[in-house]
Amino acid sequence: MNITIIGSGYVGLVTGACFSEVGINVTCVDVDQQKIDNLRNGIIPIYEPGLEKMITRNMNKGRLHFTTKISDAVRSSDVVFISVGTPPDEDGSADLKYVIQVARDCGKHMNDYTLVVTKSTVPVGTSLKVKNAIKEELDKRKVNIDFDVASNPEFLKEGAAIDDFLKPDRIVVGVESTRAEELLNTLYKPFTLNGHPIIFMDVISAEMTKYAANSMLATKISFINDIANLCEIVGADINKVRKGITSDTRIGNKFLYPGIGYGGSCFPKDVQALIRTGEEYQYELKVLKAVEAVNNSQKSILFNKIMKYYDGDLKGKTVALWGLSFKPQTDDMREAPSLEIIRKLLAAGANVRAYDPVALNEAKHHFGNAITYCEDQYETLINADCLAVLTEWSEFRIPNFKIMHKLLNVPAVFDGRNIYDKSELKKIGFDYFCIGVNT
Ligand code: NAD
Ligand code: UGA
Repeated sequence: MNITIIGSGYVGLVTGACFSEVGINVTCVDVDQQKIDNLRNGIIPIYEPGLEKMITRNMNKGRLHFTTKISDAVRSSDVVFISVGTPPDEDGSADLKYVIQVARDCGKHMNDYTLVVTKSTVPVGTSLKVKNAIKEELDKRKVNIDFDVASNPEFLKEGAAIDDFLKPDRIVVGVESTRAEELLNTLYKPFTLNGHPIIFMDVISAEMTKYAANSMLATKISFINDIANLCEIVGADINKVRKGITSDTRIGNKFLYPGIGYGGSCFPKDVQALIRTGEEYQYELKVLKAVEAVNNSQKSILFNKIMKYYDGDLKGKTVALWGLSFKPQTDDMREAPSLEIIRKLLAAGANVRAYDPVALNEAKHHFGNAITYCEDQYETLINADCLAVLTEWSEFRIPNFKIMHKLLNVPAVFDGRNIYDKSELKKIGFDYFCIGVNT
């Protein structure tokens, strides 16, 4: 089977690499010529563990190809996946212009039965729009070519994307015909053999499933952050409360880590987009509005603590930051809490010295010369008036506290991810602040 993946970003590249890994002939398409040239030379545009090796291996085996020529790719494929971006529009709803453009391209170039599968995260009703766009192009060409559309939302997490794709908790597919169902069943067989379920449903339910899943996860995070803030006020310890509640299997132990708010390219935009979908149908999603509000204020919580520590005056103070990406194992800074914190620190007149294992280049696009970039985590601490930990990279977990104490001007640590032991740090002489614990 030949397949094409249109849009070679996080989702497209991982999807293309993983399908080629199981022996399928895959062509990845993108409009970005530079990206495609780089990929052909083995230069991968994102940091994702394991991806570079997998792409190189399958390119060398001759079953993974990169091109900007959508026409050739569509013509030679049985199945086309759309995995282009769906960024938020001005009003928060998902901007579908890239998805619809690709659908039109499919209609312009298909010459035989083709199954067009939307993998991008798209609001309910988008598959119908994709179908209409394809049909319009076929009508313009005055040809009658059979095709199907399907919805196959992606649930991978950045930083663990390959594992998530190869061993998914589930694969969700919305279809309108048995032909489409059979094709996708065959395509996904290598990933479902070991008991990973593939769940078929109608297209609208599949589209809704994606938003419901992300919104549920975002809700868990905002819930625990809200409780953490109350713990701090009443003198409870959120780390203990978290353990206390997560031992109940009905609650579960995942996505209940307090922190500085969820970031990334998905939760913020998807929660917003689902709220907008509700509004389109005159239905108010009250829980999600609260989830969004809690998250927005949570992104400032560490800045507020630093500000309070310095009695509301950060002018001329130097703040060291460990971690800039929105989570570990990625260089992605889209909607990262670090962006908000750095902007606030700069506006308050503070100097920022930052280190991240892989996101420094990305950070330079955002802040240019406004902050100091350090190549080493300890270098950030030189003459700094406090340290703030923004991303829980493994290498920050057991640092040399004695060296840290010596390097910092003022031994104050603001731990946005609760990775340190309060009593250990206090014993060494640090002032220590974290989330949801009255320190
Ligand atoms: P991305 O921005 O990393 O990549 C999108 C790519 O599409 C870019 O390389 C862009 O150049 C390309 N593109 C745009 N228009 C095109 C066109 N007309 N033809 C060909 N290529 C085109 O985006 P992403 O993070 O991979 O996300 C893609 C979709 O998947 C979004 O809807 C997102 O919500 C969803 N999603 C993302 C993740 C994730 O972890 N990043 C996980 C699940 C779902
Ligand atoms: C998320 C989902 O987990 C994926 O299933 C989904 O496919 C993806 O969005 C998407 O639709 O794009 P991702 O954004 O890569 O994946 O990262 P997550 O691991 O979910 O983390 C998102 C944010 O939540 C991060 O900022 C993280 O620090 C924060 N988080 C996560 C917490 O604050 N607490 C937690 O307990 C878990």
